[in-house]
Amino acid sequence: VLSKIASGAAIALTASIMSISAADAKNFKIAVGDSGGSSQEATGKAFVEALEELSGGEHTGTLFLNGQLGSEQDTVNEAAIGTLDMSILAINNVTPFSPTVGVFSLPYVILSLEDAEKLTQGPIGQELTENTINDAGVRIIAWTYTGFRRLTNSKKPVKSVADLQGLVIRVPKNEIMIDTYKAWGISPTPMAWSETFAGLQTQVVDGQDNPYTTINAMKFYEVQKYVTNIRYIFSIEPLIISEQVFQGLSAEEQEMILEAGKKATAASAQFLRDNEAEIKQILLDEGMQIDDPENNEEEFIKLATEAVWPKFYDSIGGIEKMNAVLAEIGREPV
Ligand code: MLT
Repeated sequence: VLSKIASGAAIALTASIMSISAADAKNFKIAVGDSGGSSQEATGKAFVEALEELSGGEHTGTLFLNGQLGSEQDTVNEAAIGTLDMSILAINNVTPFSPTVGVFSLPYVILSLEDAEKLTQGPIGQELTENTINDAGVRIIAWTYTGFRRLTNSKKPVKSVADLQGLVIRVPKNEIMIDTYKAWGISPTPMAWSETFAGLQTQVVDGQDNPYTTINAMKFYEVQKYVTNIRYIFSIEPLIISEQVFQGLSAEEQEMILEAGKKATAASAQFLRDNEAEIKQILLDEGMQIDDPENNEEEFIKLATEAVWPKFYDSIGGIEKMNAVLAEIGREPV
């Protein structure tokens, strides 16, 4: 009888542990702005894989690709109020909610993947992460590196600022990017990312800018012909988690999330290193024409940096912050 009671108790205990564990198992809902094949998807997959591994299969995440859960900027609002767990989106779509991250979108600040890694993974990245928690209610847990945003359009080769005149270019709803195109002499059209393919297809706009990987994943080659290899912004696309959701996790779970984020960041840099050249070739094979800007992009650089940098020193935290950023990547102060 005693042993029966003991084994009954053991069964009950096991059942109750299992039910605790089933109740605690989490499947995080992760919005992704881009479609399959994008660097955002690569980061998301690496994150989910690492999280499953670190939690012994208890926690996972589901990616909702291609803006299914709303525009990138909307997902920040949803994560802030806790109705969405996570989102992977371009940093330029976080800036309206937390202006200091704008430093990553200032034209010609980040000049390589190495600059991007240094800035995001060092003290500046840490500070900006804290700012987004306070300003926007979201925490950056991983960084995606997607490469330089290249200009595409359906009308003509663009090699100079003069060539750009007359084109209607879509930009994200981001003041820094709007002002950069104004410095180049045109008035761009701000449009949500989730509406951009349709905007290009219906020729409401002639062009846009995004990295090779994004152009390919979004199949922009179906509606765009010309690519200009400008390098004004190196696209950084964080994975953010709702701070409310994060604070609702145990210390151990938080640790796992942060660790999985680090692994996803490393995987993202590797994805770019492994795939960018091949993806550029796919764009050529799909019939795109890729041109370099003339004179080493000098005119684009001069106009953009002279007009745009000083205008945004205050919003990114002052001229000292700008100089701290430049110093971290070995550049001269302003
Ligand atoms: C945008 O252009 O709004 C974004 O960079 C798109 C993206 O997330 O790839």
